[in-house]
Amino acid sequence: MEKKELNWAELGFQYRKTDYRFSASHVDGKWLEGNLVESEIIPIHEGAPALHYAQQCFEGMKAQTAPDGRVLLFRPQLNSERLNEAASRLLMPEVPHEMFMSAVEEVVRANYAWIPPFGSGASLYIRPLLIGVGENLGLRPARSFEFRVFVSPVGPYYQSAGLAVIALAVSEMDRAAPNGTGNFKVGANYAGGLLATRRAQALGADEALYLDARERRFIDEAGSANIIISMSGDRFVTPLSEAVLPSITRRSLMLLAEDKLKLKTESRPIDLRKELGEFEEIAACGTAAVLSPVGKIWFDDQWHSFYDNGESVGPVMQELYNLLVGIQKGELDDPYGWIHEISIQD
Ligand code: PLP
Ligand code: COI
Repeated sequence: MEKKELNWAELGFQYRKTDYRFSASHVDGKWLEGNLVESEIIPIHEGAPALHYAQQCFEGMKAQTAPDGRVLLFRPQLNSERLNEAASRLLMPEVPHEMFMSAVEEVVRANYAWIPPFGSGASLYIRPLLIGVGENLGLRPARSFEFRVFVSPVGPYYQSAGLAVIALAVSEMDRAAPNGTGNFKVGANYAGGLLATRRAQALGADEALYLDARERRFIDEAGSANIIISMSGDRFVTPLSEAVLPSITRRSLMLLAEDKLKLKTESRPIDLRKELGEFEEIAACGTAAVLSPVGKIWFDDQWHSFYDNGESVGPVMQELYNLLVGIQKGELDDPYGWIHEISIQD
């Protein structure tokens, strides 16, 4: 099967229209059978709760090409579960796991020509979304919903290619309240972060870093990724917070740090100012961000840098990146059963 003629290595993290997407409707309390469609446009009622009250949730996944040409997903069961947790939180119908999986597989298969080849550094980003549609005005749940899955070939999320060092700036704004929706992947968490990201970028950072909204002491997460930290004494920590997204990448990296690097891992509140001196390496992680080492963080009106003065990638994050990406791309054994192969022939 032919691939598109794209300069794969030059791709950034942008939307690029592919040939097919999956669409299914939930009407009168049940899911109708979905199908592949060609149009990237969703006709939507002007009163739709997704537009006014952000009754919307989404997921982010990637398909990768292995050296032998197999097409691989990474822990898709967890995306399916997380989408349904968000759906329930926003009073939307759950998407049955079989429907989620067959939609994702069908869209990837139908857009085979758009899956970046092995070695290109790019991957096929998969964006499932669930939205409340139909006529409405008052604050109540929608009566109809659409589940859609589209894909786009993408390169690195942050500007610089490969495993480049990024910078974060602590935001004076909060991302999520302790008992709010910060731990769900819902669009409502992101609109408020646009300004925080812009301000972070104005300071020369790539992204905002949020502290906990209750005390503004503990690290929560970055605007589009969780945080992992290698600390002195072979410790490897990640913030425990009720307001951060339960990142699938972070959960995987914590296990790799413990299992392969034999580090003492811990999820606990991390007091930025108090513990900073013990940080050896720090990174942001997520599906889009993969593992992006953080060279420096702006807070209290100055830059604080980490490994090698923030100039290069430290050994712990480099090794974790190699392990994670190696498993995701099928170059390394997967002892954990994380990889899900999509059969391309079906
Ligand atoms: N945190 C936020 C706010 C995100 O948007 C994402 C992206 O999905 C993540 C963390 C990382 O989660 P995952 O590793 O499951 O992609
Ligand atoms: C992802 O990493 O999949 C996300 O959804 C983050 C998004 C801001 C691009």
